[in-house]
Amino acid sequence: VNVRKEHRTGYHFQPTKHWINDPNGPMYFNGVYHLFYQYNPKGAVWGNIVWAHSVSKDLINWEKVEHAIYPSKPFDKYGCWSGSATVLPGNKPVILYTGIVDDKNSQVQNYAVPANLSDPYLREWIKPDNNPLIVSDPSINATFFRDPTTAWLGKDGHWRITIGGRRNRRGISYLYRSRDFVHWVKAKHALHTSAGTGNWECPDFFPVSVSGTNGLDTSVVGPNVKHVLKVSLDATRFEYYTLGSYEKDRYTPDPDMIDGWNGLRYDYGNFYASKSFFDPSKNRRILWGWANESDSTDKDIKKGWAGVQLIPRTLTLDPSGKQLLQWPVEEVENLRKNKVELSNKILNKGETVEIKGITAAQSDVDVTFSFGSLDKAEPFDPSWDRYDAQKLCGQKGSTVEGGLGPFGILTLASQNLEEYTPVFFRVFKDQDKYQVLMCSDASRSSASVDKTKMDDGKDAYRPSFAGFVNVDLNEKKLSLRSLIDNSVVESFGAGGKTCITSRVYPALALYGNAHLYAFNNGSETVKIDSLNAWSMSKPVKMNH
Ligand code: FRU
Repeated sequence: VNVRKEHRTGYHFQPTKHWINDPNGPMYFNGVYHLFYQYNPKGAVWGNIVWAHSVSKDLINWEKVEHAIYPSKPFDKYGCWSGSATVLPGNKPVILYTGIVDDKNSQVQNYAVPANLSDPYLREWIKPDNNPLIVSDPSINATFFRDPTTAWLGKDGHWRITIGGRRNRRGISYLYRSRDFVHWVKAKHALHTSAGTGNWECPDFFPVSVSGTNGLDTSVVGPNVKHVLKVSLDATRFEYYTLGSYEKDRYTPDPDMIDGWNGLRYDYGNFYASKSFFDPSKNRRILWGWANESDSTDKDIKKGWAGVQLIPRTLTLDPSGKQLLQWPVEEVENLRKNKVELSNKILNKGETVEIKGITAAQSDVDVTFSFGSLDKAEPFDPSWDRYDAQKLCGQKGSTVEGGLGPFGILTLASQNLEEYTPVFFRVFKDQDKYQVLMCSDASRSSASVDKTKMDDGKDAYRPSFAGFVNVDLNEKKLSLRSLIDNSVVESFGAGGKTCITSRVYPALALYGNAHLYAFNNGSETVKIDSLNAWSMSKPVKMNH
């Protein structure tokens, strides 16, 4: 395969070539982070799925090792699909994954264990002969029965896992219990279900602390804990999560949570099949998400690769208890160099200022904007769909003049702004409160001839991704951080309250030709309180 370098990432996780999807079985074991992922060893489209395996000491530099799990037995002959790792007492890792057993995609759950626990990289994995561990019963549709989670241990000494599926249009997270990790019994009740959401893929279920920012081991329960259930919606390719309580093996979302399509999202952009794990070395919970390409399959095949893993994020509960916060793991900051700073820079209406001195195509930008007043916030039209931020961003783009906003940054911009991906805020007044819209708008990201059509004739997928930011504007400030990496723009609004990832394919703003600007197209003057930006080095090791 002739791999095209253009648009490959500098510091986001990628193998050297071919297709990747879901992150699988992330774990920390004896000083080493393990990331497995769905991988096609034969091409840049989905298929022939194996568990590829990379190891790291810092979540940034990655070394590829042998494929950990690949089809070889009757219980996984047609594919080794997603799953999770659990480190059992006595420091013994075990992987649970979905095996495909026929050409109809019938699914069973299998396990694999390291062949040699003293190999620091756990290169070789064994699939014992007593697989499969779990097969579907007649109440389950075997083609929607997959993606086992990390197990948690109940006070009764029994392990639990949850597995995604559906019954008609009802999304389901099945619950299974086991005393010995080998014999698993389905609980009478599912962990949780929700009508009308369709098939649930890649459920993730874990506790968060209500009293601090430390992450918790997956088995922790108690009064200072809330639980999170995240599911990936097969039908729409986005995820949502709820916060709630876990009692008697049932999960109940808090009453103010939206348990369906309009629920909270980790990321309002290109982010799917995510999975978290507890890192005991730094007492944190880390979230991995996959970003697919946003281009045609033909293009993926031509460039010889498809898909990236996003920068791992630490997950904590927002002090409000109403949502999670996400922030790139601190280790990514070790790649920063050539710092540039700006402070107290006024941006009048229509003003654009270039941030010079960094490699804008591969950078980390952290900026806080402030404004003197909220009076000019545009009225929020009550006929707008409050849950369709993306539609609103499509109508009220970065060039559509507003009151307070749009202001923000133009990433991956060509010199004369033929193309750019703006990440910005726009504030609305909604009766007695404010609504903050955050956008990451790919609609002008590429000036190439295929601006509107992809090579297969389909309309190019250049979405105006957006989400609302549930933030207090009392201090009249809004902060934004973006990790920019050639074809990835991963943004964190208001300290990680709202996150949006875009995949974009600039034709001009490549490498040294990419620029970064800050802008304001609102009538209210805004100020760049402080801006810090860095070029990002390539990790020394990235899977070569
Ligand atoms: C999610 C998913 C999982 C499945 C895997 C197959 O992207 O469809 O449900 O296990 O990918 O590669």
